Amino acid sequence: MHGIPSLIGDGGRVQDLVGIGFGPSNLALAVALREAGAGLACRFLEKRETFVWHGNMLLDGSRMQISFLKDLVSLRDPTSRYSFLSYLHGQGRLQDFINLRTFYPSRREFNDYLAWVAADFDDLCDYGLEATAIEPARVGEAVPHVRVHARDRAGRERSWLARNVVIGAGATPRIPDAFDGLVRRGGGTGPLVVHSNDYLAVAEELARAGRVAVVGLGQSAAEIFLDLHGRGVAVDIIGRGPAMRPADSSPFANQVFDAGYTNYLYGLPPAERADLLRAFHNTNYAVVDPDLIDAVYGIFYQQKVEGTARHAMLTRHEVVAARSGSNGGDRGGPVLDLASLDGGGRHERRYGAVVLATGYRRRIHEELLQPMERWLAGGEVGRDYRLPTVPGCTVGLYLQGCCEATHGLSDTLLSILPIRAQEIAAALTADADRGRGQQIRKTTSAQ
Ligand SMILES: Cc1cc2nc3c(=O)[nH]c(=O)nc-3n(C[C@H](O)[C@H](O)[C@H](O)COP(=O)(O)OP(=O)(O)OC[C@H]3O[C@@H](n4cnc5c(N)ncnc54)[C@H](O)[C@@H]3O)c2cc1C
Ligand SMILES: NC(=O)c1ccc[n+]([C@@H]2O[C@H](COP(=O)([O-])OP(=O)(O)OC[C@H]3O[C@@H](n4cnc5c(N)ncnc54)[C@H](OP(=O)(O)O)[C@@H]3O)[C@@H](O)[C@H]2O)c1
Repeated sequence: MHGIPSLIGDGGRVQDLVGIGFGPSNLALAVALREAGAGLACRFLEKRETFVWHGNMLLDGSRMQISFLKDLVSLRDPTSRYSFLSYLHGQGRLQDFINLRTFYPSRREFNDYLAWVAADFDDLCDYGLEATAIEPARVGEAVPHVRVHARDRAGRERSWLARNVVIGAGATPRIPDAFDGLVRRGGGTGPLVVHSNDYLAVAEELARAGRVAVVGLGQSAAEIFLDLHGRGVAVDIIGRGPAMRPADSSPFANQVFDAGYTNYLYGLPPAERADLLRAFHNTNYAVVDPDLIDAVYGIFYQQKVEGTARHAMLTRHEVVAARSGSNGGDRGGPVLDLASLDGGGRHERRYGAVVLATGYRRRIHEELLQPMERWLAGGEVGRDYRLPTVPGCTVGLYLQGCCEATHGLSDTLLSILPIRAQEIAAALTADADRGRGQQIRKTTSAQ
């Protein structure tokens, strides 16, 4: 697995914490640790070359789906210098922002805010390094540390010894089975079938490709439809659902994203948690901001007024198979075999390109933790986001963003970042204090 000899990342020193991923979750943790004066030795590993927040979806006009008050710090400490308001003030835009009269800045501005905070933590983060595995560093049968392996783009490997690891690595694209092996990733070639996660990287190519199929009826699908429309592209929106439906962001429903709700949900038996997650699914998944639905509907209405049929909305349709054609306009592009869910009728359509706005999976932690399998006790993640380990393994393995089933719908979002960061920071600090206590006791008894 690790063909090139591994270089120790930091002179063989044991880190109190290695964070995997430096998106908003681990960035919020870095801020919380600094503001708590935790004094832990930390490294964060980020596979991107620089900080960016879902860069290929920073579309013109795309807005935040959460109040700017749910920034990296304010719920924990509204006086923090890392708040969104502090950023605005620092940029000389506070008054101008107030005049916008909105809680929902553009995603580009929020990305700029996050990058502004991240810049202050450059000394803690190694960019351009992808963590590949977390392995036990055994001392006999005990596992006091893990070794975190990472690789840069040139294939060079580095590793770090750590007492604790916090995985905040986000998600990977969910690719429907029909598209297995067809999807173009990270600047590759082949048929123009991409996930929404790569959208902007190929948007210009898409605009020249001919008719584009956008699969999915969620927020990404709606935003990409509007962007393609603006580029003059003809689009078929294809979805299994009966309609593009609104996200429920009404105030009582929105309380599921309150920090206190995590305690409530975590305290319930698994089956009841699952019921509640289902009940509130439409606050986040396969739903679209109502203003955006109006915009999409307006475009479809206008084409009726004009008597044109540029775009099509194929709801209640499933893509049962897909095959590639050679590229070069929709005559040679991917072919989709579509089944109507009303009666099962099938027909094939050839497109210039396909965008899969089919959402995400959160499994990166499972792959990274495979070498630790023997030391994981099983059972659910703790309220403090720590995975249970077997006796003898004292390493703290924490998860951010992949605990929706136990901690609720806010877990994959920005909603409670400052509070979760504070909770994990407290657990890490308590652990470090216990470790220092043991060290002092050992030293004293040796005297
Ligand atoms: C287009 C889009 C818009 C969104 N808008 C909102 C919104 O408005 N409000 C909201 O609350 N939520 C939104 N979300 C949800 C989103 O999950 C959160 O906003 C946020 O990004 C979660 O932060 P994170 O750090 O957990 O994950 P991410 O932001 O995904 O960050 C994870 C980081 O880990 C890195 N990484 C992954 N694997 C490795 C590895 N092996 N080694 C090293 N680094 C690795 C990635 O490069 C990435 O930088 C949006 C999601 C998408 C896709
Ligand atoms: N501006 C913003 O802030 C912004 C922009 C984009 C995204 N986001 C956020 O990012 C997250 C993900 O949103 P998303 O729109 O990317 O994903 P999503 O909400 O998970 O929606 C995925 C869509 O793809 C469909 N789908 C999934 N698997 C499919 C399959 N095999 N075949 C056909 N259709 C399939 C789903 O339909 P089914 O219901 O039939 O499964 C659904 O319509 C959300 O939290 C969202 O709020 C935010």
